Parts: sequence; C-alpha cells; structure tokens
Amino acid sequence: MRALSLFAALLLVGCGGDTTPVPGPGNAAPAPKPPPAPEPEPEPEVDFDALDDAGKKAHLMKVGKEVYMTGGSGGVACMTCHMADGKGTPGAFPPLVGQKEHMGDCTKHAKIVLDGMMGEITVDGMKYNGVMVPQKDLLKDLEIAAVITYERNSWGNDYGDCMPSDVATARKSAE
Ligand code: HEC
Repeated sequence: MRALSLFAALLLVGCGGDTTPVPGPGNAAPAPKPPPAPEPEPEPEVDFDALDDAGKKAHLMKVGKEVYMTGGSGGVACMTCHMADGKGTPGAFPPLVGQKEHMGDCTKHAKIVLDGMMGEITVDGMKYNGVMVPQKDLLKDLEIAAVITYERNSWGNDYGDCMPSDVATARKSAE
C-alpha cells in the first residue's frame, strides 16, 4: 500500500499536475501531424580551384554581389556607404564607379579593402576625408577577391578580375 501511494505521488509529479484526460476509447485520437516540410537543400560547396576561368568569374561575381550588398560571412556591407549603384554619397563616401586610379591594380585594391582607408583623397574633384573600416579580419580571401571583382566589373566598370591568390599576396605584403 505504501509503495502504491508513492507510485501515485510520482505519477502526479510526473504529470506536473496536468489534468488533461488520458486518451482512451472515449476520447478522439489526436489528429496525425502533417509531414514536416522538406529541409531546403544546402548550397553545394564550390571547389573554386576546380572551376574553369569562366566559372571562376561567375562565382566571384555572385559571391561579390552578396558581400557588397550584405557583408558576406562577417564583413560590413559596402553598399551601406558606397550605395547599391556604386555612386557613393558626394562629400561623404566616394564613388566606386570609374575609379580605376584610386582602386589601382588588383593588389592595391585588395589592400584598400583589407586595411581600410583614411585621410584626405580627391575623387571626381570632390574631397573625402572619411574612414573606411578594415575588412581583413572579417572576410575570407575568396570573399575579398569576389567583392573586388564585383566592383571592377559593375556599373560600367571594366577593370579585370581579382583572384583569391592576389588577395593572399596583398595580405602578406601588408604584414
Ligand atoms: C563605413 C562606410 C564604408 C564601408 C562599409 C565601406 N567603405 Fe569603402 N570607403 C569609405 C570611405 C569613407 C572611403 C574614403 C576614405 C578616405 O576618405 O580616405 C572609402 C574608400 C574606398 C575605396 C577607394 C576610393 C574609391 O572611391 O575608389 C574603395 C575601392 C572602397 N572604399 C571599397 C569598399 C568595399 C569593397 C567595401 C566593402 C567590402 C567598402 N568600401 C566598404 C567608406 C566605406
């Protein structure tokens, strides 16, 4: 009898005082749950080095647009300052359209993005003296190569591609 009441007490504790009737012959069976929605397919990892030149360019442009618009895996979205159309904000954030001289070659361009930029510069006859945040600890080489390739080939720019190996070189020479 003692064991039985202990069992009853445990049962009560176990139920947490819930008084919902136990499903039985008198109660309707719970409705069957709908099958879970299929998980979205994860994007396949791209083996960048295995792509041909056209494939590499297409991949860099796709990832580069993401980084530019959203900041990629941990960076700051470039469009916040340089605007979605690359035209910047006159007097505050310089344009990226038609700026080959400022961007320079791929390694110089990579250094700007890796280390950021500050100090007075003149772009299209307008002075800028702002601060651009360094991205070197925030983005991977492939993402930096991608965003640079995107800038160099968008909004009418046609300044060639940048590869992750170029960014790795820029990283080394910046140390
Ligand atoms: C917080 C605002 C901000 C963000 C975010 C930002 N920049 Fe900048 N960027 C600037 C400013 C300000 C300058 C000019 C700095 C100066 O006055 O010396 C600049 C300069 C540049 C330049 C050289 C000048 C020119 O007009 O070509 C490049 C290239 C550039 N940024 C690319 C990028 C890229 C790529 C990203 C994203 C990874 C980015 N920026 C994110 C503010 C920003």
